[in-house]
Amino acid sequence: MTSRKVSIEINGKTYERDIEPRLLLSDFIRHEAGLTGTHVGCEHGVCGACTVQMDGQPVRSCLTLAVQAEGHSLTTVESLAEEDGTLHPLQQAFIDHDAFQCGYCTPGQICSAAGLMAEGRAKTPDEIRELMSGNICRCGAYPNIVAAIQQAMGRS
Ligand code: FES
Ligand code: FES
Repeated sequence: MTSRKVSIEINGKTYERDIEPRLLLSDFIRHEAGLTGTHVGCEHGVCGACTVQMDGQPVRSCLTLAVQAEGHSLTTVESLAEEDGTLHPLQQAFIDHDAFQCGYCTPGQICSAAGLMAEGRAKTPDEIRELMSGNICRCGAYPNIVAAIQQAMGRS
């Protein structure tokens, strides 16, 4: 297949690569940019583990082609903490509430929750559960995840 040159911005840095047009964004992020904080689970858009933000909106990077990200600004979990190491309120809240066990789903949970916070849409635990329902946690840490998101939203 003919490769194509792309220029993709992730966490404020531009990555120029020659890639196959069919390359998934999740593979670009992990293997071309080396940002392995974004996890891949189902690869079918079901589990939410691969969630990143594109122009501030959560997207499933396993359902997105890398070429579709050209001209957009991507944010992955690596960029959430401050440069001095201060954690994002969501990251701190996940620690405070033990909102993970194996941690595999956690980057996707946090990226989705960051989108909710930015939109200011989820106001109650039920709304958080509904709006986060696309992020599966096989360890079943859901009560702690909801509590963590509430804390980060200042509603705990
Ligand atoms: S890996 Fe993308 S939704 Fe599961
Ligand atoms: S913490 Fe293990 S899958 Fe969510």
